[in-house]
Amino acid sequence: METLIPIINRLQEVFLTLGAEIIQLPQIVVVGSQSSGKSSVLESLVGRDFLPRGSGIVTRRPLVLQLVNVPPLEERRKQDNGNSIKAEEWGTFLHCKNQIFTDFSEIRKEIEEETAGSTNNKGISPEPIYLKIYSPNVLSLTLVDLPGITKVPVGDQPEDIEAQVQKMILSYISNPNSLILCVSPANSDLATSDALKLAREVDPDGRRTLLVVSKLDLMDAGTDALEVLLGRVIPVRLGIIGVVNRSQHDLNTQKSLADSCKDEQAFLQRYYPSLASRCGSRYLARTLSRLLMHHIRDCLPELKTRVTVLTAQYQSRLNSYGQPVEDHSATLLQIVTKFASDYCNTIEGTARHIQTSELCGGARICY
Ligand code: GDP
Ligand code: NA
Ligand code: MG
Repeated sequence: METLIPIINRLQEVFLTLGAEIIQLPQIVVVGSQSSGKSSVLESLVGRDFLPRGSGIVTRRPLVLQLVNVPPLEERRKQDNGNSIKAEEWGTFLHCKNQIFTDFSEIRKEIEEETAGSTNNKGISPEPIYLKIYSPNVLSLTLVDLPGITKVPVGDQPEDIEAQVQKMILSYISNPNSLILCVSPANSDLATSDALKLAREVDPDGRRTLLVVSKLDLMDAGTDALEVLLGRVIPVRLGIIGVVNRSQHDLNTQKSLADSCKDEQAFLQRYYPSLASRCGSRYLARTLSRLLMHHIRDCLPELKTRVTVLTAQYQSRLNSYGQPVEDHSATLLQIVTKFASDYCNTIEGTARHIQTSELCGGARICY
């Protein structure tokens, strides 16, 4: 995501100056059966530990996670004489707006408490928890973590739990601006993947569905996921990416995300040498970046039109001021022209960047 951050920031800057709305990046929604590893995958994308994970039904309400890119602390200090939040990264919840969380394990605790306080024993609720994470290291982007697909009611879950969860998932993934991240564990049959089945319902051409195969480390001896990863079992247009997240034991012993990432790479090199460069959490993050970049590219023609329209509007407003303010209008016109040219430069720069990154990119991705 690192290369994208400065580009998007630049675009947003220009947009804000023009008073226009910024481009809307797609929201990324994770879908999969219970305990397939959805929350773990999201965490590795954000690069921080903050989500409740574990066996059984842990995620019981949708979590709408808005990542907000902010300048580094050092820069913010200079800009506002130290009045701003004195942390590099922090989080806030909609349900307790005034509280600022700088300790990410407190964020996890708050999600757990908020879930427990609003649902009965193992019950689910369609009422989302809204969390914002501010950081210089993230893209301003929305990620959605959802309860897993389950079949058999447990605890106080209603008889129609399966239908309820499906309805909840569909309400998020039917949004055409959602990128669907299906998570399916390597130790269960892909053909029975409910996640892929749901994704297909709303995205039959597979234009916005990506498959993550988790738990590569938990396959039966003598089996591997090669056929699945090569797309020979079920082809997925945007790509199939194998990952190894932290096991329950790793979570219990507080293994860090960085160590997990290193071990994942070693595992892939050892068991899937031919695919190692196209698998893993880091490759997944890069693939998502590329998909987002393509999305921006697709938005560019419309952006250009919007700039032209805005410029014309400024121009006609200036004209309506008539002769007496001629001098001022000349300066204003200069400013507007500068905006417009900055704007086009940014757009063209982005387009060039996309082309270059396509040349360097590994897998072919249609988006
Ligand atoms: P979710 O219910 O789909 O959100 O799944 P979680 O992310 O909460 O993970 C469920 C359980 O599976 C946890 O105990 C994780 O530690 C474990 N887990 C997830 N991914 C992997 C993986 O790739 N390998 C192993 N060994 N365990 C995993
Ligand atoms: Na789980
Ligand atoms: Mg979960």
